[in-house]
Amino acid sequence: MNIISINGSRRKKGNTGLLIQSILKPLEQSGAEVKSIFLGDYTIGACTGCEGCKNSWECVIKDDFQSLIEMMDEADGVVLASPTYWYTVTSDMKRFIDRCYGLIQFPKNRSAWIGKYDGMGKVCVTAAVCEQKDEAHMGNTLTLLTDFAKDIGLSVVDSVKALNCFEAGSIEKEKAALTDAESAGQRFLQQLKYFV
Ligand SMILES: Cc1cc2nc3c(=O)[nH]c(=O)nc-3n(C[C@H](O)[C@H](O)[C@H](O)COP(=O)(O)O)c2cc1C
Repeated sequence: MNIISINGSRRKKGNTGLLIQSILKPLEQSGAEVKSIFLGDYTIGACTGCEGCKNSWECVIKDDFQSLIEMMDEADGVVLASPTYWYTVTSDMKRFIDRCYGLIQFPKNRSAWIGKYDGMGKVCVTAAVCEQKDEAHMGNTLTLLTDFAKDIGLSVVDSVKALNCFEAGSIEKEKAALTDAESAGQRFLQQLKYFV
């Protein structure tokens, strides 16, 4: 089983990374091969809206983005996670998502788009972190990640959130969130076993 985790945090040792680790724990224990991507290590320019990806599945801008898509193509499962920055995902995650516009296509004579990964049985867990205790302050971080994942054809088995996490590492005290994350990892593993 090949898994890719994509972390949109700006802090390598931050809460989002720790939340991802909890999700991945059951998968790593079962021997899955995990590639952990920290988006900040990659040069991903902003989508220019050129529509060059129309009818091609591919972005015409050449930078590190292509290597991430190759890993997504090969993956059986994807973990998508971001902290909340101003009620939404970080700009790193948003740039990555925008550049994925070619992963949906609008065939002629069809009212709806098709996702590159539709029907492939690729499984996904989405995850989000925020500082405030009130979930309203998470804004659309988690729903954006989940809607995006579904749009490109990933089968989202679970969505995990951790509230009340500010300083890097403070998620360690949010035991319930970490337990939820591990449970999501277990469901992720069960689905993967079904598909792979
Ligand atoms: C620029 C910026 C904007 C933020 N906006 C929000 C917000 O809208 N709501 C919230 O609850 N937390 C917000 N936070 C707090 C982060 O979501 C929180 O510190 C989180 O744990 C960061 O994850 P990390 O440890 O992976 O970096 C913001 C933090 C920064 C730096």
